[in-house]
Amino acid sequence: MHLAVLLSASALFVATFALDNGEMRTPPMGWLAWERFRCDIDCEHDPKNCISENLFMDMADRLSEDGWRELGYVYVNIDDCWSSMKRDKNGRLQADPKRFPGGIHKLARYMHDRGLKLGLYGDMGTHTCGGYPGTTLDKIEIDAQTLADWEVDMFKFDGCYSNATEQEKGYPLMSKALNATGRPIGYSCSWPAYQGGLPPQVNYTQLGEICNLWRNYGDIQDSWDSVLNIIDWFFENQDVLIPAAGPGQWNDPDMLVAGDFGLSMEQSRAQMALWAIMAAPLFMSNDLRTISSGARSILQNKMAISINQDAMGIQGRRILTEKSQIQVFWRPLSNNASALVFFSRRNDMPYRYQTTLSKLNYTTGSYQIYDVFTEKTMVLKDSTSFVVSVNPTGVVMWYVSAPAKLNHRQFYKGGRLQGSGYDDENAVPRVFL
Ligand code: GLA
Repeated sequence: MHLAVLLSASALFVATFALDNGEMRTPPMGWLAWERFRCDIDCEHDPKNCISENLFMDMADRLSEDGWRELGYVYVNIDDCWSSMKRDKNGRLQADPKRFPGGIHKLARYMHDRGLKLGLYGDMGTHTCGGYPGTTLDKIEIDAQTLADWEVDMFKFDGCYSNATEQEKGYPLMSKALNATGRPIGYSCSWPAYQGGLPPQVNYTQLGEICNLWRNYGDIQDSWDSVLNIIDWFFENQDVLIPAAGPGQWNDPDMLVAGDFGLSMEQSRAQMALWAIMAAPLFMSNDLRTISSGARSILQNKMAISINQDAMGIQGRRILTEKSQIQVFWRPLSNNASALVFFSRRNDMPYRYQTTLSKLNYTTGSYQIYDVFTEKTMVLKDSTSFVVSVNPTGVVMWYVSAPAKLNHRQFYKGGRLQGSGYDDENAVPRVFL
């Protein structure tokens, strides 16, 4: 009782001080240019891939015509290298006139007409990481106002070419300046990534108050090594990171590279599953014009997305690291449900991992299980031993419903037994996946 009172009091406290722009109550989803398209500005020789308004309009068309938008992928985010090398005569940032002849405002209109949103990139410092004009402390207000005038919906504020003292001033100032424009602009802060991502240099309470999301760690690349490195850092530091996340404030392990060149289908499922466990922003950085149907179906998996987007916004955790190199992850979800991920760090062959739900802290009876990627349903009693087969570098992901009384009728559909049986404790463990 006392604890409940205390918890709700502290929830109120957080609500009062959290960044008050009402944005991003669930992790933002969309597309972001950087990992796949970098700073390619060679439009003459590579018109399809260069950082220009055409690229962003193409991606907007794909998001709105290929089923992405309805699933929540609504942001189209421009990253570095969009601007002219010089500010205009009024000191405002301006888009490169050759590559963005219509300007950023027109692009924002293009997005809004299609039910999408536009994100833009800037940098707290003298230059962006790519060498374009940055936002020094004296330019914060004018740049925030420019974003609002252009009807931009999200702003990623990078941290190249500034020191810790400038960042300590600049990131909160930009938050204030964005709020002062009156336009709700989702605010992504790269600040912690420049300060090692951990306390005492990083103050996650403050970040939650001023930013909607933040990059904690290094840049993702199109390789499994890079994805693994990020996964390991985030889960090794989960006790620091989990309390920082919640509605309107998210840790950002960086873009989804599923759909590019570096990940197998197993690895793409692993990235999607673990980004969902982490309540991570889902920004794809791939080419939606040519993406394979396999990658598309992973990125469009409805249950993985709905786990990612769970309204409680509690970031999940790694609960087990086995000698067998199987790791188990868990995230609590609304309606007393939860998600489980079995992840294989092995490189040999599918591993048959044997366990019980009670070993994974499920101890109140029988649970209905939905396999996120095979779309099969089954019921498992907490004490029943089972075997799950996990492919090398792959995952098995489950949505686990609240415990319910067994209803025998639910196993039979159209006269056929659905899923594997249940609750015979002495039965030989079943391999059902
Ligand atoms: C940094 C950021 C990247 C990207 C580049 C652009 O490295 O972390 O995400 O924005 O700058 O130059």
